[in-house]
Amino acid sequence: MGVPAVLMLPLVLLGISGLLFIYQEVSNLWSKSAVQNKVVVITDAISGLGKECARVFHTSGARLVLCGKNWERLQSLHDALISVADPSKQTFTPKLVLLDLSDISCVQDVAKEVLDCYGCVDILINNASMKVKGPAHKISLELDKKIMDANYFGPITLTKALLPNMISRRTGQIVLVNNIQGKLGIPFRTAYAAAKHAALGFFDCLRAEVEEYDVIVSTVSPSFIRSYHVHPGQGNWEASIWKFFFRRLTYGVHPVDVAEEVMRTVRRKKQEVFLANPIPKAAVYLRTFFPEVFFAVVACGVKEKLNVPEEG
Ligand SMILES: NC(=O)c1ccc[n+]([C@@H]2O[C@H](COP(=O)([O-])OP(=O)(O)OC[C@H]3O[C@@H](n4cnc5c(N)ncnc54)[C@H](OP(=O)(O)O)[C@@H]3O)[C@@H](O)[C@H]2O)c1
Repeated sequence: MGVPAVLMLPLVLLGISGLLFIYQEVSNLWSKSAVQNKVVVITDAISGLGKECARVFHTSGARLVLCGKNWERLQSLHDALISVADPSKQTFTPKLVLLDLSDISCVQDVAKEVLDCYGCVDILINNASMKVKGPAHKISLELDKKIMDANYFGPITLTKALLPNMISRRTGQIVLVNNIQGKLGIPFRTAYAAAKHAALGFFDCLRAEVEEYDVIVSTVSPSFIRSYHVHPGQGNWEASIWKFFFRRLTYGVHPVDVAEEVMRTVRRKKQEVFLANPIPKAAVYLRTFFPEVFFAVVACGVKEKLNVPEEG
């Protein structure tokens, strides 16, 4: 007796979901084995995304070097990672390094400290970044320079200091966590967007230069990372379903999802990842193919913003 036609669709859907689940689990296991024993440096491991990257890479057995500006926060991250370590899996005690990327003179010393300790770096994740928001004429040139140091000169100084070691070993991967603002300019973000454009340009050029030495350069550009404590709110079921489908649009991508994507990028040696919803993605295409339309839309947004009376 055949399966009733009405049951066919649910069975097919169940089968597809099962296959997708198995694929995801196998893919996660594969990701983890790809970083086992590898020396992985994460800059600003104490922020939302950096912390999640630290957790994902630590549980996968990487030898982590966690960099950050604040020793207490680094230490509490270290303790948190050690306390949840699964004794059945091999994990390594992370090395902690104080690093302020806008203090360029110290960046070389940090690279030396890491190389002296481990002898090599397999994966560098340039995650740290400094934000600023405001009209260009109200942001001082000193602040512009500080943003450029933290978001451009700092990461490239660290990369240049670690690169000869990767080239001589003919292996390594450099990941730049960038932003959609490295591809298009948004008002009131002049310094941040400029530094992100510069960083993307640098790493795009470097990718081709180091390919012959089997060094991989990857850029991961999310559009908006959700703040840790923001969760889709409760509402009526229609609103919830809408939010379920459009939650990334409304709330941004969760840091855990971005960290998993960074891990996939490392494992698959991807060159460029663009983690954005349809609207920001469309904006990038608009900027490329119809710049006048893009500029007009953005200018309209600024006019509207300036017309809104300030609170308080
Ligand atoms: N948040 C988003 O929506 C978003 C979207 C797309 C891309 N990204 C990118 O994703 C990465 C991580 O972002 P996030 O949202 O997790 O972090 P975040 O909220 O942007 O925080 C930035 C972190 O970087 C640290 N930092 C700032 N200046 C530094 C410096 N000179 N040296 C070392 N560390 C410094 C900050 O430390 P202090 O707090 O002590 O200053 C903070 O922990 C960044 O590269 C960011 O550009 C973020």
